[in-house]
Amino acid sequence: MKDRLEALRVEALAQLQEVADAGRLNDLRVHYLGKKGQLTEILRGMGGLSAEERPVIGQVANDVRAAIEAVLADKQAAFDRAETARRLAAETIDVTLPGRSVAAGSVHPLTKVTQEIEDIFLGMGYTIAEGPEVETDYFNFEALNLPKDHPARDMQDSFYITDEILLRTHTSPVQIRAMKNADGATPLKVICPGRVYRRDDDDATHSFMFHQIEGLVVGPDIRMSDLKGTLLQFVQAMYGPQVQIRLRPSFFPFTEPSAEVDVTCTQCGGQGCRMCKHSGWIEILGCGMVHPKVLEHGGFDPEKVSGFAFGMGVERIALLKYDIDDIRHFYNNDLRFLGQFARM
Ligand code: PHE
Repeated sequence: MKDRLEALRVEALAQLQEVADAGRLNDLRVHYLGKKGQLTEILRGMGGLSAEERPVIGQVANDVRAAIEAVLADKQAAFDRAETARRLAAETIDVTLPGRSVAAGSVHPLTKVTQEIEDIFLGMGYTIAEGPEVETDYFNFEALNLPKDHPARDMQDSFYITDEILLRTHTSPVQIRAMKNADGATPLKVICPGRVYRRDDDDATHSFMFHQIEGLVVGPDIRMSDLKGTLLQFVQAMYGPQVQIRLRPSFFPFTEPSAEVDVTCTQCGGQGCRMCKHSGWIEILGCGMVHPKVLEHGGFDPEKVSGFAFGMGVERIALLKYDIDDIRHFYNNDLRFLGQFARM
C-alpha cells in the first residue's frame, strides 16, 4: 500500500508539472484528492491493515496529500498571478487620452427668448393662452374689426386654405378666444405665444413663418398709462434698466388709439449707429387700447371695461438681444449657430 501511495505521489507530481492552465489543474485536483479520487481510493484499503501498520501508512498518506496540495497551491498561485497580469495589461487605461465629449443639445434661441418673455409676464400675474395655427377668417380678421373688404387686410398677406380658413397671420385671434373663454370675468391678463404665417418672401428680416407673443389685459378702468408702464417694465427686464421706450401713433384696426413702440437702441444705447439707422431707436412691437368693437366680439361691454393689447415678434426680440443679423439663422438648424446658445 505504501508503494501504491509513493507511486501515486510520483505520478501526480509529474502530471502537475505539465499543467498549463487553471482548468486542467482543477481536473487533476479532483482526480487525485477528490472524494472519488485516487488517494481516497487507495485509503479505502486501510481497513485491512494491522494496528501497527495503520499509523505508518496514515503518515505516508498525509505526506503524499501534503506534497500534492503544495504543488497544487503553487501552480494555482502562478496561474492567478498570470491572470492578474493579463488583465492589468488588457485593461490598461491611457489617462493621457483626450476624453470623449458627450453631444448635448441646447434650447433653441427662439424657445429661450419665448420662455424669458413668458417668465417676465408670468411674474406680472399673466397667464398663458394658446390658439390654433389654422384659424378661421372670423377669428383672424372679422372679430378683430377687419371685415372682408377692409384695406388693412393687405397689411398681412395670408395663406388661405379655403375662403373661410387660413393660417393665422398674427396671434391676435387668441385675444378673441381668450375673451370668449373668460365669459365676461375680469381682470383678464393673458399672453399668447405661437407661430404665425404670412406670404412674405424670405430674406434677412422676413420669413413666411415666424413667432409672436400677444398680450391682452381687460378690466375696469384699464388705461394707456397701464400699457406704457407694463411695456417699460417688460423691456427693462428683457434688455436692462437703462433701456427706455417711446410710443409713436400708429394704426391697427383692432386697437384705438394704436401705437408702435420703440426701444433705445440696444447696440449704441441711443447714440445712433448702423443697427438703429442712426436714429437711436428700434421698433419692437405694436400695441393699443382694445377697440370697443373687439371687446364686444369678445363678450365684454365696452361701456364697463377697457383693455390694452400688444403684439411682438419673438425673432425681432431675439435678433436684438443676441445681436444676430439674419433671421434665417433661426431656421437653418446649423449646429454651429445653435451651439452658441448652449451656455447662455
Ligand atoms: N397683431 C399685430 C401685428 O401682427 C400686432 C398688434 C397686436 C398690434 C396687438 C396691436 C395690438 O402686426
